[in-house]
Amino acid sequence: MKRQDYLVRRKQQIDAQLERHLGPEQPSNRLHTAMRYSVLAPGKRVRPILALAACETVGGNAAEVLPFACAIELIHTYSLIHDDLPAMDDDDLRRGRPTCHKMFGEGIAILAGDALLTDAFRIMAEAALSKGARPKTALRVLSEIAAAAGSRGMVAGQAADMEAERVALDLPMVEYIHVRKTGELLRASIRAGALLGGATPKVLTSLTRYVDFLGLAFQVADDILDEEGVTAVTGKNTGRDRYRRKATFPSVMGLPAAKQRLRELREQALEQIADRGRRAEPLRQILQLIVDRACSPS
Ligand code: IPE
Ligand code: IPE
Ligand code: MG
Ligand code: MG
Ligand code: MG
Repeated sequence: MKRQDYLVRRKQQIDAQLERHLGPEQPSNRLHTAMRYSVLAPGKRVRPILALAACETVGGNAAEVLPFACAIELIHTYSLIHDDLPAMDDDDLRRGRPTCHKMFGEGIAILAGDALLTDAFRIMAEAALSKGARPKTALRVLSEIAAAAGSRGMVAGQAADMEAERVALDLPMVEYIHVRKTGELLRASIRAGALLGGATPKVLTSLTRYVDFLGLAFQVADDILDEEGVTAVTGKNTGRDRYRRKATFPSVMGLPAAKQRLRELREQALEQIADRGRRAEPLRQILQLIVDRACSPS
């Protein structure tokens, strides 16, 4: 199957399920309208696609993973809403639209983020309680997602990212931030799909190694796109990291070296799944998509 076909099909499936989880429009309910506005905006859905692809790679049933995949997308969307707030990155454009706080005000934007994060855990708990799910595996997945999103994972990375503004950082520190603010949730996504799909410990280890390279590649690509991408592609205003003096790969090593590092990370990620055969093709395609967006194929 062509790359586009797989990714488009999975994205449609996820979008339809997200719509179901959120429920129909309620025009008089501004909180709900803001949640729908941000979640149903055109995101790439990389995290839920990774969860489903990991499940398929290990021969599992993707339908069982779908609620967890959607919950991760809700957590991700909450993180974007809060990341864009004036107290954080102060951004006006997200997913090609005005940011949540620009549309609904800061109060509702904060609450929409709070609600998405909390509802994500409700959705996962309900899935864990449902018939057919293996409760212990579901609980393990839930706890890994909580750890990845929380004060030792994504939130720790976001705090370090903010505190690093206007401070000259070295590469290990930038990596420290990137691994947490972005890598952790991507790692939890793939591990959720693999665990629910019944992966053996050995396969889980190699998929985790794959996603750790992918996670870093993802944020390096995001940094490159902020430097030289176009809004029509990213759906975000560009040049914001330089303006805010953010700790990024291009800022510490320069653009050419950052692109070289991105290509190396792609190769390192691919090596981890080299023996997984055709079933791992979606994982290879996702990686290629991430790298191609930020630097021309080589
Ligand atoms: C943006 O994430 C924030 C980062 C962690 C770099 P995505 O690039 O996955 O954004 P969407 O979901 O496609 O909008
Ligand atoms: C955001 O990183 C990471 C999270 C939201 C957790 P960035 O601040 O680089 O993401 P963008 O560039 O605004 O999407
Ligand atoms: Mg940020
Ligand atoms: Mg930001
Ligand atoms: Mg960025």
